Amino acid sequence: MNKSKPQKKFTKIPQHIAIIMDGNGRWAAAHGLPRLAGHKAGTENLRQVLRAAVEFGVKYLTIYAFSTENWRRPKEEVKGLMLIVEDVIERELAELHREGVQLRHIGRLEGLRPQLIEKIKAAIELTKDNKRLVLCIAFNYGGRDEIACAIKRMLNEQLDPDTVSEDLIGEYLFTSGVPDPDLIVRTSGEMRISNFLIWQSAYAEWYISPTYWPDFDKEELRKAIIEFGLRDRRYGKISSNQVES
Ligand code: FPP
Repeated sequence: MNKSKPQKKFTKIPQHIAIIMDGNGRWAAAHGLPRLAGHKAGTENLRQVLRAAVEFGVKYLTIYAFSTENWRRPKEEVKGLMLIVEDVIERELAELHREGVQLRHIGRLEGLRPQLIEKIKAAIELTKDNKRLVLCIAFNYGGRDEIACAIKRMLNEQLDPDTVSEDLIGEYLFTSGVPDPDLIVRTSGEMRISNFLIWQSAYAEWYISPTYWPDFDKEELRKAIIEFGLRDRRYGKISSNQVES
């Protein structure tokens, strides 16, 4: 007999979920481990969250892996995070490609070591036609930096100021072509934006989970999506059931 609880059906699936994978360091401390062990556990966790996202019908997943401010962390941690990403691309790329995942990078390539830049470019090229899920990796990413880069390019192209619109600005961001996030999840209980998708998150719903990222599993993602389904997204309007007749 199947004793597993019947799963609640989702009322709404966010097309795009963005995640601030926070709490790796505290997870490691709680387990008496060095911080890098927390990042490794967080990386392992990514695999099951990615699978769950595909299963739940999410089309775009963005993860905040390294911010422009994370360079201020201890040298060893920064070096470790760079190596983790290189290693993940090496180990997981073939399977991600087989599974129909398209990889995108958002952020600056400048400042990364040449071997990593080559691996990122090759991964993007290999997977560019995949359609099952778009995985955007925010790496060496900052929302303010992204906007500054966009303005610089627009000025360099000597655009006519009258042509500048919100949509046009969107085309100059690293996320060009990716719909804005519907749901942003931050783990570990922190309630900050931390320079993440500051333009694109204008109408995103936020979900803060107290769970540290390495423990944020498929069921936690399910809870976030169920909660999203309960939200009344008004985009500045009033609720449709409050319209006077
Ligand atoms: C935040 O936890 C986490 C990070 C800054 C790094 C997240 C990176 C990974 C999980 C690596 C995987 C990335 C890819 C692309 C494979 P924290 O260190 O701020 O935790 P704390 O707040 O508890 O100290």
